[in-house]
Amino acid sequence: MAGNLQLFVVSILTALFAAYSLYRRNKILVRFPPGPRRLPLFGNLTDLPTSQQWVTYAKWRGQYGDLIGLVVLGQPIVVINSIRTAFDLLNKRGSIYLNRPGFSLVREWGGWNWMITTMQYGEEWKLQRKMYAQQLNPKCIQEFHHVIYVQAAKLASRLLCSPEKFQDHTRLFAGANILMITYGHEVVDENDEWVKLAREANASLEVLTNVGAHPVDIFPWLRHFPMNIFGGKFARQMRHMRNLAEQLVERPYAAVKDEVLCGRVLHSSMAHRLIDSYTSAGITAHEETIRGALAGVYVAGADTIISTIDTAILALMLNPDIQKEAQHLLDVVLCGQRLPSLEDRPKFPYVDAILRETLRWNPVAPLAVPHRLVQEDSYENMVFPAGTIFIANSWQMLHDEATYPNPTEFSPNRFLRDDGMLCDDILDPREIAFGFGRRICPGRHLAESSLWITISMILYLFDLTIPLDERGEPIRPDLTYTSTFISHPTPFQCVFTPRSHTARLLLDPKK
Ligand code: HEM
Repeated sequence: MAGNLQLFVVSILTALFAAYSLYRRNKILVRFPPGPRRLPLFGNLTDLPTSQQWVTYAKWRGQYGDLIGLVVLGQPIVVINSIRTAFDLLNKRGSIYLNRPGFSLVREWGGWNWMITTMQYGEEWKLQRKMYAQQLNPKCIQEFHHVIYVQAAKLASRLLCSPEKFQDHTRLFAGANILMITYGHEVVDENDEWVKLAREANASLEVLTNVGAHPVDIFPWLRHFPMNIFGGKFARQMRHMRNLAEQLVERPYAAVKDEVLCGRVLHSSMAHRLIDSYTSAGITAHEETIRGALAGVYVAGADTIISTIDTAILALMLNPDIQKEAQHLLDVVLCGQRLPSLEDRPKFPYVDAILRETLRWNPVAPLAVPHRLVQEDSYENMVFPAGTIFIANSWQMLHDEATYPNPTEFSPNRFLRDDGMLCDDILDPREIAFGFGRRICPGRHLAESSLWITISMILYLFDLTIPLDERGEPIRPDLTYTSTFISHPTPFQCVFTPRSHTARLLLDPKK
């Protein structure tokens, strides 16, 4: 009964607040970008697509142009559909396009306030970015090349033993690689307790189908009410989420810190380096920030890598000619005598072209992560009020016909000159796929090295083919992608046939 009364009061307050916001916004939104017609009070709430949002936004481009203006319950939102505009606003004016939407629900109730992706610009964000810049710059990543190489070789061995479980193996690779780099923690199999904890914590976020779109995100003052105004089930889910978020940030860090203090460090890792560099006279400064930065690596880095490797496998399976070309180039240099390593990268621009095309063909973050404008800004006769949320439609930019002709075709050659070297006259998709401005992905060098070596090993060691059913018909993948924040290809099958040198190279420890 009391719960119903609370919900009633909250609904009335919300409606009044929304009406006031709308009145205020309508005064401000005179020169806002065009977009679908708004309903009184709700604005464009009912226009928001619920699946494959990037495709709908791309279609709207024809009607409204590069910038689409939406207002949802008084909140102005602008969808950016062109590369030029994204660079003009998010890159060139990065110092005012660097906040995030409030993400109040996950931060305040869900306990994810340590996660940098959800943070506003401020001291804590700056310090975490500094830690990432210190630990994940291209030079530091080189020191992790051996770890990445070993993990990729383990992935290849698992593919040799049980190829039908390839998607489990890519998951395990991503988790093991990140946990070794972040905490020096060795993952033996999928029953590893840290992997399980991180997956469970990530999965707890999936109950929020549309992060940023819950009433608590739109009206942050709602967080002062008890959680069960949205129902007992919801409150239990949020408590579960908070509990996992707390464990994820605390447990691995506590274990590593004990090791560092007892001098039992087996593998150098980001955790060890950060603890070392911020500890003086036995006292570690900025411990909370270090803990958050470390936990954030798994959260931001595992699923993105998994999805990209799965996309590469999908694309290569569908394009045997590309596989053949890459295998030929790898064979000429490696001669079946050793595995490729990251030091070989300059010798294989074709693999780099495959990597770029993978990031472009089906980007893992099709709508990047929203940015929020700090102060009012104007652009090409339009005005955006302070607080406007900007959604970059990276998928549309990476599928822009003018920049990438035949965008649905998987064609690494578009990035190569006639002499087989990478060309500069076509925009490198990494400029878009890793986000924009001050919020650009700080893990991009780690991501690239991990993806490059994995793609090289898979190509060098296996032929990928489309499986056949009992009538000998190919079981073609349906090429659909999930509409989640990190978009994954829906499960598909692929046959991995070892090449002539594969067993020798993977099973002979001297190679
Ligand atoms: C294929 C792999 C990856 C892709 C495509 C990717 C893409 C992105 C994108 C689009 C953003 C949002 C940028 C923006 O707001 O404009 C982002 C943010 C971020 N990424 Fe990545 N990422 C990948 C892998 C990684 C890895 C391996 C790490 C590990 C360190 C990482 C750490 C982060 C962090 C911490 C942020 C938040 C930055 C902030 O809010 O200031 N990412 N990433």
